[in-house]
Amino acid sequence: MSIITDYLVIGSGIAGLRFALDAAKTGTVSIVTKKEKSEGSTNYAQGGIASVLDPDDSFDLHIKDTLTSGVGICHEDIVRIVVQEGPERIHELVSMGVGFSQQAGPKKMFDLGREGGHSKRRIVHTKDLTGREVEKRLLERVAEDQNIRMYENHMAIDLITKSTLVRRGIVTQQTDQSCWGAYVLDVATGDILTFLARITILCSGGAGKVYRYTSNPDIATGDGVAIGFRAGAKVANMEFVQFHPTSLYHSLAKNFLISEAVRGEGGILLDKKGNRFMEAYHPLKDLAFRDVVARSIDMELKKSGDHCVYLDISHRGKEFIVNRFPHIYETCLSYHIDITQEPIPVIPAAHYMCGGLLTDEHGRTNLENLFAIGEVACTGLHGANRLASNSLLEALVFARRAALKSARELTDKKQEIFPQAPEWDPGSATDSEELVVVSHNWDEIRRFMWNYVGIVRTNKRLARAKRRVENIQEEIKEYYWNFLVSLDLLELRNLALVAELIITCASLRKESRGLHFNLDYPSPDNKFWRQDTVIRK
Ligand code: SIN
Repeated sequence: MSIITDYLVIGSGIAGLRFALDAAKTGTVSIVTKKEKSEGSTNYAQGGIASVLDPDDSFDLHIKDTLTSGVGICHEDIVRIVVQEGPERIHELVSMGVGFSQQAGPKKMFDLGREGGHSKRRIVHTKDLTGREVEKRLLERVAEDQNIRMYENHMAIDLITKSTLVRRGIVTQQTDQSCWGAYVLDVATGDILTFLARITILCSGGAGKVYRYTSNPDIATGDGVAIGFRAGAKVANMEFVQFHPTSLYHSLAKNFLISEAVRGEGGILLDKKGNRFMEAYHPLKDLAFRDVVARSIDMELKKSGDHCVYLDISHRGKEFIVNRFPHIYETCLSYHIDITQEPIPVIPAAHYMCGGLLTDEHGRTNLENLFAIGEVACTGLHGANRLASNSLLEALVFARRAALKSARELTDKKQEIFPQAPEWDPGSATDSEELVVVSHNWDEIRRFMWNYVGIVRTNKRLARAKRRVENIQEEIKEYYWNFLVSLDLLELRNLALVAELIITCASLRKESRGLHFNLDYPSPDNKFWRQDTVIRK
């Protein structure tokens, strides 16, 4: 079955929804999302959105903090755009009904939080449930819009490009690199739909599930990067995987983040004996940049042989803690940890992908008609290490910029006739009876990525990981062509490709910078490596 739409949005987090709301003013929008619409990373974001909203703060300071965090490879023009357009995007969210926490008192003023690497309080938040509030309000607006249709439990398989059409004999020459929509699996029925779109926007989030320990939800399997790369889009900086220093360490807790805002409000990192250790690593101590804190914890754990370190906020008192961090308090309590009385056991976990599909200042990739926004994109904002709470900001700013740009492009494209894309051809594929292949390979990838391509890397470890991922990809290829596609298989295929891209970028960068730390090249090399790592199929 074919569905024709002006805009095809792949992903339903803050970037996709915010884009859809603007795009719907100029055309029809189809949003495909592989699980329920609110299952993305946005929904789990606790911290908030960084922006200059206090008279005592300035654009220059936010720009400076972002550049310092990015260790020399942020694109300064992009940093400037994002920081300067931020306040307007926040006020738009307020006008859409998002309820950010306010200071006590008669004046209506945001209760601005602080996080690592920020020289000022500048994080707007809704207690510790910011993402959930933003997602909820955006979904409400989307539901009211007649021009937007949401397809839940639909997973994009691959983009339809000129080369798809050439391969299938529809056009004979590959004259340009353009995208015309995507093949999409309807997970419930197993049918494969052909979405023909004039503009396609990848905003399917990150890839935390490529690592054994992650703060990300299960959907974060790097689909957008994998789909884009397979179609010929450029990918950059995949070696810069951000490990959040503090995720809850508990055998029953899966993916639970302890927000950096806890340290922003005075939380202190301790070793098992109750000693502070961040003083030994950085003058900003517990509020140092994330790469520094995660690496310091890793070193402490390697030195002591302990399984976790501890984060103590109990000195702030029960009333403050329960009011400011209700979600963290309740969740920890459900694991019998009373954070008003005792320190929280924490370990670092894969949290955010600073690299992704390379875009320009409007979110455009190198493929015509294809945009990428949010975590799936590499805009140049984050450089080698993202400053805390800059990601939702980036998603908002680029959603707006991409909507404006694509609306202008759509006006011309409306005259064009869609190329006739062939229906999906399953060939002689049959139902698989060996799903253990999928689960085994999935586990293996996550394990070797954690052990060999984690917080600290070496050339040997990277080479080992490369050999492993190549073997797994061979197996996946065989499986992919022989059996009918399923959600699990598609995710595994994407996860393996993203693992390969991370290993490739990490192996190319012969230095240590920000989130990429290689013991064989422990220092930055500003002569050769003050640049992005860009790769393409
Ligand atoms: C957090 O709450 O620590 C996450 C914020 C972020 O990753 O920007």
